[in-house]
Amino acid sequence: MDEADVEGDLVSILFTEEQIQTRLEELAAEIEKDYQGKEILLVGVLRGAVMVMADLARHFGRHVEMDWMAISSYGSGTKSSGVVRILKDLDTDITNRHVLVVEDIIDTGLTLSWLVSNLTSRGPASVEICTLLRKPDALQMTVEVRYVGYDIPNEFVVGYGLDYAERYRNLRCVGTLAPHVYS
Ligand code: PRP
Repeated sequence: MDEADVEGDLVSILFTEEQIQTRLEELAAEIEKDYQGKEILLVGVLRGAVMVMADLARHFGRHVEMDWMAISSYGSGTKSSGVVRILKDLDTDITNRHVLVVEDIIDTGLTLSWLVSNLTSRGPASVEICTLLRKPDALQMTVEVRYVGYDIPNEFVVGYGLDYAERYRNLRCVGTLAPHVYS
């Protein structure tokens, strides 16, 4: 789905499909350099990270493994609470593995703080985070985010995996949703 297919729903386009791909290619190159001689297990967080995972993984010129977790954050409305429940756990034993968590967006950072501590308790060789987008509140996180595509303002963004009421995930670009859509 392109911008034209959701005409009037977006206030602006933050990142085009081309910009996203260019940035993911840069991140993949950086990750490859940092993980020379090490196996990488990419862990995608469903559902938002599907697009980032699919494209990031294909930008690597080397083998990577992929696994998925589905987690649900108890919370009211659109904000996560940091109290998280595992809906689908990893199929992979991550003991002594180099784990790279792949996310679409970090907003409050509560989901990832919980996830990193959960994964760390399983005895991996390392746990790092790669996110396409990061909102300002996430800068308060105690967990370090090693790979960030773009820092963005605190706006309601959709597209490229990010939804509003399960819609817009299949939009190719990332855009700011017009208030009339959600109010
Ligand atoms: C989004 C995103 C992160 C989380 C970030 O997922 O994919 O997992 O919110 O928010 P936080 O930093 O405030 O914790 P969401 O719960 O919307 O589920 P989804 O991936 O299925 O869209």
